[in-house]
Amino acid sequence: MCGIVGYVGDRQALDVVLEGLARLEYRGYDSAGIALVTGDPRATGLTTEKRAGKLAVLAGVLAEQAPPPSTTGIGHTRWATHGAPNDRNAHPHLDCTGRIAVIHNGIIENFSGLRAELQERGHVLVSETDTEVVAHLLEEVLVADGTGTWVDLAESVRRVARRLKGAFTLVVVDADQPDVVVGARRSSPLVVGRGDGENFLASDVTAFIAHTRRAIELGQDQVVELRRDRVQITSFDGSAAVVTEYEVDWDVAAAEKAGYEHFMLKEIAEQPRAVADTLIGRIDARGGLVLDEMRLSDADLREVDKILIVACGTAYHAGLIAKYAIEHWTRIPCEVEIASEFRYRDPILDRQTLVIAISQSGETMDTLMAVRHAREQHAQVLAICNTNGSTIPRESDAVLYTHAGPEIGVAATKTFLTQVVAVYLVALYLAQVRGTKYADEVREVIAELAVLPEKVEKVLETMEPVRELARSLVDARTVLFLGRHVGYPVALEGALKLKELAYMHAEGFPAGELKHGPIALIEEGMPVVVTVPSPRGRGVLHDKMISNIAEVRARGARTIVLAEEGDESVVDLADVLVRVPPTPTLLAPVVTTVPLQVLAYELAVARGFDVDQPRNLAKSVTVE
Ligand code: M6R
Repeated sequence: MCGIVGYVGDRQALDVVLEGLARLEYRGYDSAGIALVTGDPRATGLTTEKRAGKLAVLAGVLAEQAPPPSTTGIGHTRWATHGAPNDRNAHPHLDCTGRIAVIHNGIIENFSGLRAELQERGHVLVSETDTEVVAHLLEEVLVADGTGTWVDLAESVRRVARRLKGAFTLVVVDADQPDVVVGARRSSPLVVGRGDGENFLASDVTAFIAHTRRAIELGQDQVVELRRDRVQITSFDGSAAVVTEYEVDWDVAAAEKAGYEHFMLKEIAEQPRAVADTLIGRIDARGGLVLDEMRLSDADLREVDKILIVACGTAYHAGLIAKYAIEHWTRIPCEVEIASEFRYRDPILDRQTLVIAISQSGETMDTLMAVRHAREQHAQVLAICNTNGSTIPRESDAVLYTHAGPEIGVAATKTFLTQVVAVYLVALYLAQVRGTKYADEVREVIAELAVLPEKVEKVLETMEPVRELARSLVDARTVLFLGRHVGYPVALEGALKLKELAYMHAEGFPAGELKHGPIALIEEGMPVVVTVPSPRGRGVLHDKMISNIAEVRARGARTIVLAEEGDESVVDLADVLVRVPPTPTLLAPVVTTVPLQVLAYELAVARGFDVDQPRNLAKSVTVE
């Protein structure tokens, strides 16, 4: 939530900052702003510009009225929490003198008390944001420090950060201390990009990947002082921090559209590769699983007597699928919980509980809080994550990375498929270690996993009927999605995609539950999308689903049926039939989700909506 960029170097900071913001816009896009240290006397040495609306609005203003040259700057793209998305609440926020500029991601929970104090002391706050208090608190240290001692920007940020409660990434410039940008991080992401004679700060590496692949993730409660030739990281108390630099293993091309009309379309197309990459290096020569990187000992895994999965949104749906695989393959009881609910119900956890936190960004605050709660209760936490070095894996006992590459479209697509693959790997590994599956059985499933990329490719090649279908649904008021077993989370995911992208009312139901109420919704012509379990799997599941299709059809529904090639039992019940390659029951979501992603994408495009940046949303939700 909110994208942040900072730069010090020899280039024009405005160009670097705008380019970075363009890459981070997926994090929030209701307003944008920049601050440049320009030495311009008309503007107290600081030039700022901010505008409600997408980055293009700000860029347009800056193109018409170019700011003075500057090699030190910061920029922000906002997802509003406190205060409406208007020009006034856009970041940066300034102190009373206009010399200090602050941008922020997160929520400062004690801002109202601080605001009242500041107003009492004569400060004039002009926005409704929580952020603005930081600029005025810095002013008190930097400008009006009664002791008369000069305080540098990093020290002033440390002092102020110690007074703040909540989650925040702050990035600050001071016109009187040019050539330095200072950042602070608590429970919200901030990455340093190391260049030659220049350095970068950003919410994630995509902002500077075109310039450098050398990165340092800031740790919890740390402050960074960024200069042209030096990066100094300390804790909030001023002590030096231990710093680990790493090399990002993808380049700028991965974060670009590569000729696709939308990032989402590119990311859907990348799914075969993403699934294959997530399997690479995890299968040994004998067809067994190797998850050494997971950092949980086999002895610990043998002790596990309960698994709890926490996640949000699409990642939660991956968790629901995981439950079927984990319980079936390992016989360990497994529960799945929406992360934002988890800690409030006082879950029963102990050392034998394995908590699996699934998050593509690794920064989702609800999931992070669930992780912290689980660790406080002495549970072991395994993160499944797509973002190297992000907060959730760093705060977990172990991590299994998905290798989907950067996902820019706000709707999760390739990261979902790779999360599902990752949970299969974890479930199988547990089964292997605990002996609930024989080695040859594990190898059989692995062989099926290995052919999933081909199957997803095949689905993608046969999506024309889905595109046609989407065009016919443009005016539908409601779409229902039905599934059974692992098809139920697939139904939920199909409905979520349609809501977030095409802004259509959609619901996912377990097909058997329909007759307990929701079937009353069915009216003549209502589209009902049904994922049919494999007839080669548990026959009873398949047959029950056939009856459920007949039930909705009898009440006038227009049935859109996703079924395996060769399943002839569905032909007479389907108004529209979409075929998917035969896949074992538990692994089927990897193929059956794809047509639903394509359906949502096509419908959103047909209805004229912004697919990559749907309204009211942001890619990483870093507030609770
Ligand atoms: O980064 P995370 O996987 O933790 O994000 C969780 C959800 O916010 C995310 O999956 C969201 O539901 C997507 N926009 C769905 O497409």
